[in-house]
Amino acid sequence: MDGPLILGIETSCDETAAAVVAGGARRLSNVVLSQVPVHRLYGGIVPELASREHLRGIVPIVRQALEKAEVELAAVDAIAVTRGPGLAGALLVGITYAKALALAAGKPLIGVHHLAGHIHAVLLDRREQGLPEPEWPAVALVVSGGHTALFRVARQANGSFEYKLLGQTRDDAAGEAGDKVAKLLGLGYPGGPIIDRLAEHGEERAIAFTRPKLKGADRDLDFSFSGLKTAVLRYTQTHPLAAGIAARQALTAGGAKPPLEALRAACDAETLNLIASFQYAVARELSEKTVAAAERIGAAGILLTGGVAANRRLRRELAATAAERGWEVMAPPIALCTDNAAMIAAAAAPQFAMADFATWDLPASPQLPLAAR
Ligand code: KG4
Ligand code: ZN
Repeated sequence: MDGPLILGIETSCDETAAAVVAGGARRLSNVVLSQVPVHRLYGGIVPELASREHLRGIVPIVRQALEKAEVELAAVDAIAVTRGPGLAGALLVGITYAKALALAAGKPLIGVHHLAGHIHAVLLDRREQGLPEPEWPAVALVVSGGHTALFRVARQANGSFEYKLLGQTRDDAAGEAGDKVAKLLGLGYPGGPIIDRLAEHGEERAIAFTRPKLKGADRDLDFSFSGLKTAVLRYTQTHPLAAGIAARQALTAGGAKPPLEALRAACDAETLNLIASFQYAVARELSEKTVAAAERIGAAGILLTGGVAANRRLRRELAATAAERGWEVMAPPIALCTDNAAMIAAAAAPQFAMADFATWDLPASPQLPLAAR
């Protein structure tokens, strides 16, 4: 028994994505159209352009997902779409198209929370690999350009999932901080993957950044990355890094994407140390709080997901910190960490089983929380 065949659609940010997933367990297709080349020109995501690009991409991307899966729309059991959080105009493109398809084909519509999608990416990957289901409760660290949050995740007897917020960022998301640091160092956009590659050439203990102090007795699992970002800025202002920054800005001007070797050649040792030390500070902060959260709730396992989960240093740091206390870290491959629609279709499978269908007035919910504390 394969379970429901679900067409997933994701347009919450800057990826137009569609996928067909069988039973929350097997990708028949997973098509992602990245808008990075469009936004790179501006050094960040421009919401109006995101909506326009989704409008351009949504029809062909959904068609490709069905074609690659060799599935007719008539054969899918439901259409799942990201209902939030995300950019309002971007979400609306996916939601409106999903409604039209569902209505025309006579299929149920399922509204999926984007962060539930990221969490289900871990489960989808494990099922595809024939690995056992995680034991519950688990702690999930969802870390991306828009989010940095820790959740307690449990599966109920009836198969539905229950989430509880344990901590979240009070300012920048980790990915956002990385993108901003990369921008101020002239490394181009998006900066996370570039920092990941350049950091291996620097000494990560060179600069000891002070850890953020968070007020609030029950808020010690929250994060803050804006202070770290400011500390990097101050470092660039108090050390002789300006010429290097200008040289790299010239390389990345106008949305150009120079080869990594060219960027590396334009970085002196001090800059590489700064990049490595920043990345290490983020990885350590995320890892220590995730393991503290796992301890607090007596978690059976740890899930790591979201775009920043692609970061190799974070994966290593969290795996090592967790292993010291006996936990395994479950993280999907990079294609399932960054935004995609397979994770949305996978998260929709237990909702399908519960007949948790959306009505035709399903709105876009830009600020939708996944769970309360
Ligand atoms: O999940 P995602 O694709 O979109 C959001 O929901 O935000 O995450 C995108 C974020 C960006 O900030 C990007 O710089 C970051 O993930 N990212 C990385 C890496 N790959 C992507 N950050 C650090 N290291 C990476 N290898
Ligand atoms: Zn995301």
